Amino acid sequence: MSIEKVGIIGGGTMGLGIAQVCARAGISTTVVKATPGDLEKPRGKLQGALAKAVDRGKMAAEERDRILGHITLTDQESAVADCDLIVESVVEDIEIKKALFRRLEGICRDDAILATNTSTLSVTEMMAVCTHRQRVAGLHFFNPAPVMRLVEVIHGFETCDENIQALTEFCKRVGKDPVQVQDTTGFIVNRLLTPYMLNAIRMLERGTGTIETIDKAMLTGAGVPMGPFALADYIGLDVVIAMSRNIYEDVRQSHHAPPHTLVRLVQLGYLGVKTGKGFYDYSVKPAVGNPDLERPVI
Ligand SMILES: NC(=O)c1ccc[n+]([C@@H]2O[C@H](COP(=O)([O-])OP(=O)(O)OC[C@H]3O[C@@H](n4cnc5c(N)ncnc54)[C@H](O)[C@@H]3O)[C@@H](O)[C@H]2O)c1
Repeated sequence: MSIEKVGIIGGGTMGLGIAQVCARAGISTTVVKATPGDLEKPRGKLQGALAKAVDRGKMAAEERDRILGHITLTDQESAVADCDLIVESVVEDIEIKKALFRRLEGICRDDAILATNTSTLSVTEMMAVCTHRQRVAGLHFFNPAPVMRLVEVIHGFETCDENIQALTEFCKRVGKDPVQVQDTTGFIVNRLLTPYMLNAIRMLERGTGTIETIDKAMLTGAGVPMGPFALADYIGLDVVIAMSRNIYEDVRQSHHAPPHTLVRLVQLGYLGVKTGKGFYDYSVKPAVGNPDLERPVI
């Protein structure tokens, strides 16, 4: 099937990033704000990200206008009724996502593909609440979506091969490098990256080094673009703790459970870059790392 209209549920970091990716490829994109509140907030974030890209000379003003022209922001889920593909990118909570999939089945065409951008949750568990299960899949973009090339195309237990193929072709069309993955907790990248971030936090708790020295060591010694703390803050500590809990729930090995410091920061609402404070306090100074990645623009 040809994907010409995309609906995105959730106007957070990832929802808006995925919208930019689709719109840049000329695809008509509708973003549904998933929680009550003013549409001006996501609109401002979207315009701000694109304005930065223009200011830094990474995008022409005409390109920005063209992208914005392809994006519709709304708070009505019914606005995705005629979309060929709907990608949900709401908070990482299985019950919220399952309830959303149930509602989407009542709204969307029977042949529309329903995809989740979940980081670690089971695509198959979301599929299980649907009647047309063959159309449910994972489409896992990486943060920042306009920059990162990988998309994991996730094959749930009953996803049909035609839809996996259609999603793979779609990813290529929007300029991404897809890999097909079976539905297992954390898929490929987060199954490897989550324990890495948790190990760094435990290393901090043991007193091996500070946040800065551990990040600097990985940055300059392992050649990664961000150290583990800058990365966790960038992903969002609420997302990191959800990934940790989901992997722990699956494998039941204690070293996958969220470390104390991560739990406390999330309890305090320090979620990283998006709240201005996490392992780093961004009102004081930026994280150790590649300055371009700390505040990425398109
Ligand atoms: N942050 C990352 O690095 C990253 C990368 C890939 C995938 N993801 C996944 O993308 C999804 C969204 O993450 P994000 O980073 O954009 O988070 P975010 O905090 O920026 O956005 C969360 C979104 O969920 C919505 N939301 C919050 N509470 C809700 C509720 N009770 N019911 C319905 N919607 C609610 C918000 O309105 C917002 O649109 C998650 O599943 C996450 O695991 C995140």
